[in-house]
Amino acid sequence: MKIFLHFLLIFLTFSLVPYTTHQYACDKRKIDITNLSFCNKSLSYSNRAKDLVSRLTLGEKVRQLVNNASGIPRLGVPPYEWWSEALHGVSNTGPGVHFNRLVPGATSFPAVILSAASFNAPLWYMMGRVVSTEARAMYNVGLAGLTYWSPNVNVYRDPRWGRGQETPGEDPLVVSTYAVKYVRGLQDVNIHGSKDRLKVSSCCKHYTAYDLDNWKGTDRFHFDAKVTKQDLEDTYQPPFKNCVRKGHVSSVMCSYNRVNGVPTCADPNLLKDIVRDQWGLDGYIVTDCDSIQVYYESIKYTSTPEDAVALALKAGVNMNCGEYLRKYTVKAVNSSKVEESVVDQALLYNYIVLMRLGFFDGDPKQQPFGNLGHCDVCTRDHKNLALEAAKQGIVLLQNRKSTLPLSAKYVKRLAIIGPNANATKTMLSNYAGIPCRYTSPLQGFKKYVWRVVHKPGCQNVKCSSKEHIKEATREAAMSDVVVLVVGLDQSIEAEGLDRENLTLPGYQEMLVKRVTNKAKGTIILVIMSAGPIDVSFASKNNKIGAILWVGYPGQDGGDAIAQIVFGDHNPSGRTPVTWYKRHYADQVRMTDMNMRVDESRNFPGRTYRFYIDKPLYKFGHGLSYSNFSKFLVSAPSAITIRKYKGQNQMDLPLATHNLTDDNQQAIVDLADVNCKKYDFLVVVGVKNEGTMNGAHVVLVFYKPPKWSDIEGVPKIQLVGFERVQVKAGKIELVALKLNVCEAFSLVDEDGRRKLVTGSQELVIGSATERKVTHKFTIGVRSAIEDH
Ligand SMILES: *[C@@H]1O[C@H](CO)[C@@H](O)[C@H](O)[C@H]1NC(C)=O
Ligand SMILES: *[C@@H]1O[C@H](CO)[C@@H](O)[C@H](O)[C@H]1NC(C)=O
Ligand SMILES: *[C@@H]1O[C@H](CO)[C@@H](O)[C@H](O)[C@H]1NC(C)=O
Ligand SMILES: *[C@@H]1O[C@H](CO)[C@@H](O)[C@H](O)[C@H]1NC(C)=O
Ligand SMILES: *[C@@H]1O[C@H](CO)[C@@H](O)[C@H](O)[C@H]1NC(C)=O
Ligand SMILES: *[C@@H]1O[C@H](CO)[C@@H](O)[C@H](O)[C@H]1NC(C)=O
Ligand SMILES: *[C@@H]1O[C@H](CO)[C@@H](O)[C@H](O)[C@H]1NC(C)=O
Ligand SMILES: *[C@@H]1O[C@H](CO)[C@@H](O)[C@H](O)[C@H]1NC(C)=O
Repeated sequence: MKIFLHFLLIFLTFSLVPYTTHQYACDKRKIDITNLSFCNKSLSYSNRAKDLVSRLTLGEKVRQLVNNASGIPRLGVPPYEWWSEALHGVSNTGPGVHFNRLVPGATSFPAVILSAASFNAPLWYMMGRVVSTEARAMYNVGLAGLTYWSPNVNVYRDPRWGRGQETPGEDPLVVSTYAVKYVRGLQDVNIHGSKDRLKVSSCCKHYTAYDLDNWKGTDRFHFDAKVTKQDLEDTYQPPFKNCVRKGHVSSVMCSYNRVNGVPTCADPNLLKDIVRDQWGLDGYIVTDCDSIQVYYESIKYTSTPEDAVALALKAGVNMNCGEYLRKYTVKAVNSSKVEESVVDQALLYNYIVLMRLGFFDGDPKQQPFGNLGHCDVCTRDHKNLALEAAKQGIVLLQNRKSTLPLSAKYVKRLAIIGPNANATKTMLSNYAGIPCRYTSPLQGFKKYVWRVVHKPGCQNVKCSSKEHIKEATREAAMSDVVVLVVGLDQSIEAEGLDRENLTLPGYQEMLVKRVTNKAKGTIILVIMSAGPIDVSFASKNNKIGAILWVGYPGQDGGDAIAQIVFGDHNPSGRTPVTWYKRHYADQVRMTDMNMRVDESRNFPGRTYRFYIDKPLYKFGHGLSYSNFSKFLVSAPSAITIRKYKGQNQMDLPLATHNLTDDNQQAIVDLADVNCKKYDFLVVVGVKNEGTMNGAHVVLVFYKPPKWSDIEGVPKIQLVGFERVQVKAGKIELVALKLNVCEAFSLVDEDGRRKLVTGSQELVIGSATERKVTHKFTIGVRSAIEDH
């Protein structure tokens, strides 16, 4: 009866909400489309776009070059807001999305950094699909746009970066894979015969070498990132390249910063030559919000605003988040700073994307996804996937004497302590919308233990006063179990706010120490943050039984944490970043973009690929309640490649190298190799030797030969990964398909990719697991058949 009333109430509420639809072009009720070729669905997108642009005056054109596009009323083209966001759920961070009584919230997945920790590529795709379904549903009821400026695929180069939470971590392969999967999840239509059609449009940002917001007086608007060709090619560019080439993303956003002196949105080499021509972007290039204005006003990169817009358009910008292109383009064209044909071309790219989205095909209700509506947002399946993503991402960093999992039936009184113990909004991270609901850690634990006592211990995450510590320690002394939920939030790491140190803010560390001293029972430390924190003090403390990193776990994060603590989920997440110790923040300037070690100036290098010191936790580290062992089933012991010359693919007669002798190394430029031919399989067996079912992440690293003529080779490099579910006592096989050029190429100081022949090594497993290694050789042959 109660349930029935509840439904009745919901029904009444919704029936009072005005049910609007989005305005769309080519609406037969508003305009006679008989002679409008741009409305004719049997013509190609590009011909339709050309027809539309050919009908516009210059004044009309420039009003369509900004996110708040005015539309062309005389042609029945309504205004369109290009700026919507969906980083980890449909979000009202951009002006294109609204929530109301009809759709009060949308599924809010964990911060990307936590979903990335699952190392589960199919999950990332499924998340993208859920988000695009909710986005389409909201579009159909007039609450959202079709163009989403997500995901953020900048490599998380420095642990202090305030926007690291938005990214998939520090490894270029993980970031690239995430980009491809999430973008496809957003964009793929999966309906037969709809090849170019887009479900929603996605955007990879911020191109490029953008990963500093505001650090010790240097902000992103003024920062000039000095990047070597080598770092650009093997760290900063791969996610964007893969996003365009393999993800077929329909937009790329240029960033605020300069790269080697040139603002990225004004750089024809970065935009036109690389993104458009080399990678073949089928879509539009958009500026970060106001970034043309930023390079004009903040750094006086040009002498007039007209020069600023002319430069952007000529560099390859098609769309301006902001107002500059609307305000200054007419004058720039009129004074011959840029040709009108450049404006036309920009519009063509923009309109083709809107056409692929069906914006010019009449009523969205008659189109693919036209049946989606408010009931398709926050469905049970969608909410479950958000919870699943959190559970799969959470990392068990330490588990002294198998403290975890706990058995709920022996816990009479549980103290949940710390500034994030009752986190709600904090769990959503940034670029969030309104979630379907919240389950805070406090609520999550209450589902397992009858007596849960909550003591924040600090006023807030900054924890600038000690006054609440005492009541927390008192409670700790009375409880069987203490769960300390510490960490960060948007007051410490955020867009526009980088950290200056790697420690817990304020008195949080003191809180942990004092509570630990006084506690009589089991102590679990839960770190809720995106950026890694130096918790060495806790890691060494015998009284702390287990340490979990939970990222920002999304709307039901509290359930995810409690289910792991009480063993209803066996953790399998791996940290996608290196956890440096605190001295890193003093040793390394955040403005230093170098990845590679430079001993001459005491620079230790960045990320697991180069960092020479011992971190607290290594990239890829993460424990389980089960023990897994791995064995190699098959992998090639020798890979022989053939060089070919130029486009006619003629084999070059080359001397056969002695494959077993390191001194016989040769270096082959990838430009001379037909890379498509060199795929191979690595098959790994994974045995669950524990008593709990669980998942295991297989990480495959390439360890390049020590001896090499190439300077600055990574110590080790992730080349493949896969998450596999294995039942207790059982074995599963994992087959990873790798490509020789992608897996084993090394970048030289000129930014060119090379293969080094001779003996090589694969390392299967992260630094802290029982590893399996495999030696093999790469050789070069002339006309002899490949093996
Ligand atoms: C469409 O074009 C044809 C041929 O030019 C013309 O006869 C007709 O009046 C036009 N229809 C409309 C609605 O403009
Ligand atoms: C649409 O274009 C096709 C192909 O050019 C043409 O045959 C058809 O008449 C056009 N339809 C309308 C309504 O103009
Ligand atoms: C969008 O542009 C129109 C003019 O074309 C302006 O009136 C309106 O205020 C703008 N809206 C926003 C949110 O900037
Ligand atoms: C374009 O330039 C001409 C003179 O070259 C001027 O008369 C006209 O007003 C300008 N138009 C605009 C829109 O600036
Ligand atoms: C936990 O947070 C929620 C939402 O902010 C709040 O309503 C509730 O009172 C808090 N509970 C405690 C025990 O502080
Ligand atoms: C570290 O920085 C945070 C702010 O990000 C601040 O709250 C804290 O007090 C700082 N700690 C030290 C030891 O300086
Ligand atoms: C895993 O194996 C190690 C060593 O073989 C052993 O010490 C540990 O107790 C095992 N852990 C579990 C959860 O089975
Ligand atoms: C190849 O290397 C092996 C082992 O180092 C050596 O014995 C042999 O002489 C070498 N052969 C050639 C042709 O260099």
